[in-house]
Amino acid sequence: MNNDKWAYLDDAMVASGKKTIKELFAENPNRAKKFSLEAAGWFLDYSKNRVDSKAMKALVKLAEASNLKAEIEKMFTGEKINVTENRAVLHTALRNCDPDAKVFVDGKDVMPDVRAVLAQMGDFSDSVRKGVWRGFTGKKIKYVVNIGIGGSDLGPVMANIALTPYTKRSLKFFFVSNVDSTHLAETLRSVKAAETLFIVASKTFTTQETMSNAEAAREWLIGKLGSKDAVAKHFVAVSTAAKEVAEFGIDTKNMFGFWDWVGGRYSLPSAIGLSLMIAIGRSNYAKLLKGYWKMDEHFRTAPLDKNMPVIMALLGILYSNGYGAETYCCLPYDQYLSRFPAYLQQMDMESNGKGVDKAGNPVEHLTGPIEWGEPGTNGQHSFYQLIHQGTHLIPCDFIGCAKTHNPIGDLHDKLMANLFAQTQALAFGKTAEECRAEGVPENLVPFKTFEGNRPTNTLLCKELTPETLGALVALYEHKVFTQGVIYDVYSFDQWGVQLGKVLAKGVLADLVADKQSMKHDGSTNQLIARYRKAVGRG
Ligand code: F6P
Repeated sequence: MNNDKWAYLDDAMVASGKKTIKELFAENPNRAKKFSLEAAGWFLDYSKNRVDSKAMKALVKLAEASNLKAEIEKMFTGEKINVTENRAVLHTALRNCDPDAKVFVDGKDVMPDVRAVLAQMGDFSDSVRKGVWRGFTGKKIKYVVNIGIGGSDLGPVMANIALTPYTKRSLKFFFVSNVDSTHLAETLRSVKAAETLFIVASKTFTTQETMSNAEAAREWLIGKLGSKDAVAKHFVAVSTAAKEVAEFGIDTKNMFGFWDWVGGRYSLPSAIGLSLMIAIGRSNYAKLLKGYWKMDEHFRTAPLDKNMPVIMALLGILYSNGYGAETYCCLPYDQYLSRFPAYLQQMDMESNGKGVDKAGNPVEHLTGPIEWGEPGTNGQHSFYQLIHQGTHLIPCDFIGCAKTHNPIGDLHDKLMANLFAQTQALAFGKTAEECRAEGVPENLVPFKTFEGNRPTNTLLCKELTPETLGALVALYEHKVFTQGVIYDVYSFDQWGVQLGKVLAKGVLADLVADKQSMKHDGSTNQLIARYRKAVGRG
């Protein structure tokens, strides 16, 4: 690793700090064209950023000095780049649509297994959708409940909402993730046991939340249908852990497998997408994979300075490590993408929320940003005030689709007008002179002035389809990958989530014990005591 590589960021900052976005546009009327590109059905306009050609060149050098091209190849060819877990990272193999593709892990081509599971998923979804798969009492399936958490939930939920126009509306989908019993209870109130299929989605099949919910759902089903034999007709599993699936009581022929080289937060295009495939059908699911694949190919082959995920990654690093921006905001102007920011949170923050580099030393720069966002225009009437006039620099991605699936009057024109106008206001602001020229009284001028120079990317597609959704997810996956390479952190483990899981076991033991142990710290002992008293175990 080139330790001097961060000098390229300094170079980028020198160029970037010279002119405001407004000045950059005044200087180069063709700027929008120059700082735009297209890939896999998406158009990226990144001209409203604090960069000129010099800054971009320096940023690309930062990527080159991080050996990005070589790292990309390592990922695509199955090298064990997830070093702390000794695993390859091959979510790209899941959507490799080349019928002749071969991808090797430990000398074995994984593609035949990938295709076999896809075919198994396709046959199963067909049978549920067509009413061939019947429940224990002979009824067709009407309700599908996915039980999973993290990557085994957020992707399926996000995509199920995003692709609503493509879903079979006679089937109703539910997603239970939280170990809060309210989540399961409210779901069970909305379904009928004889017509419900539960998909237990868990890579490890050991996650406390998922297994507790799945066991409770199994008891509920047995109670409602009066026989343990009902489980086989109402439960299927998506997992890498055949033994645990069998122990739960699910016939392993109704298990849809995936592999340790698929990270949870990258698992939507694996069997974890089973609920989605049932919702949208196998041919739409194939289009989703095709969209992913197109963006994968772009990422793998495009030169770095014309590579959409790379450009977005580099701009993100400019703002975080150059300008000190700690957060990043994703603003989809499409109601169907309402859960996309939440999905991105896990993808980015669980991947690059790391404090040590690959050598195990504390990093000397900021790593993954705090991600947040809400669909437009709702955010405009809530937190945009801070983005426009607050003291924090918050780079934003605006995402929009030219065509709506639901044309009603001029609503879509209004939505898109708001999107474009927000990026305008953020970039160009409003000077005190402009305020005065509009007759703003002098005492109000400071409050009505907009500084501007606030950076945004705009991503546009023609329409939100399975294909464009797949490409959008892959775009962000590769952006996160690129940033991880430049930050020199391991992006595919998540040790930071372990400690809380382990401690929860000790706390739980104390919550339910006959006598409180008092072995924790003073605060935790006090909280446990209060809880025990409130529930009558004091
Ligand atoms: O706790 C974090 C995590 O391991 C995520 O990375 C993962 O997506 C989630 O838990 C669920 O894990 P599993 O699919 O094994 O239940």
